Amino acid sequence: MKFFVDTAEIDAIAELHALGMVDGVTTNPSLIKKSGRDILEVTKEICDLVPGPVSAEVVALKAEDMIAEGRKLAEIAENIAVKVPLTWDGLQACKTLTDEGKMVNVTLCFSANQALLAAKAGATFISPFIGRLDDINIDGLELIEDIRTIYDNYGFDTQILAASIRTANHMSDCAKIGADVATAPPAVIKAMANHVLTDKGLAQFIKDAADANIKIV
Ligand code: E4P
Repeated sequence: MKFFVDTAEIDAIAELHALGMVDGVTTNPSLIKKSGRDILEVTKEICDLVPGPVSAEVVALKAEDMIAEGRKLAEIAENIAVKVPLTWDGLQACKTLTDEGKMVNVTLCFSANQALLAAKAGATFISPFIGRLDDINIDGLELIEDIRTIYDNYGFDTQILAASIRTANHMSDCAKIGADVATAPPAVIKAMANHVLTDKGLAQFIKDAADANIKIV
């Protein structure tokens, strides 16, 4: 499973990228707002840092305006994936932009039917939002499973990009289901390293090393 990092914070991306943890980046208008940066500038910086797909989201609502924004975003770098919402206009924009050879990430997906339409429109990525479904007591992981089944049934190339990931367990659950990509905030990716038994075991080893005066360098 590929790891995308869900942030527009350059330092956080760079830290994870140095460890080989970043196969791509996703942003959205809320993350750009949080960064306090200009969208074109910060997206360019991210694209220069990470060779994998970098999702940059349109803010228009009508297909023709999304297409114009998508073309401008795609000029930033070759690794831009234009992010469009899963609306009828978004699907129209997806078809036009993918026909032009651009990567397109269809976002705000909350149902298997929506994912089916995105695949038919040629989406490079579909972004089902796990956490926001969980927030309203609908099992987000079940949606990932349903989309995996449907895409495999018909051999769709669209990659399942599990989004709105809130916990480290979401990451391993998505990997078990067979999501192609999971995008998560840096803190969630780092939390995957945590285990209480690792902490307990390490404390004992460090104590024993001190007791035995073990020195290596
Ligand atoms: C990524 O593509 C999505 O925009 C993001 O994962 C949404 O996450 P949130 O529901 O935690 O805002």
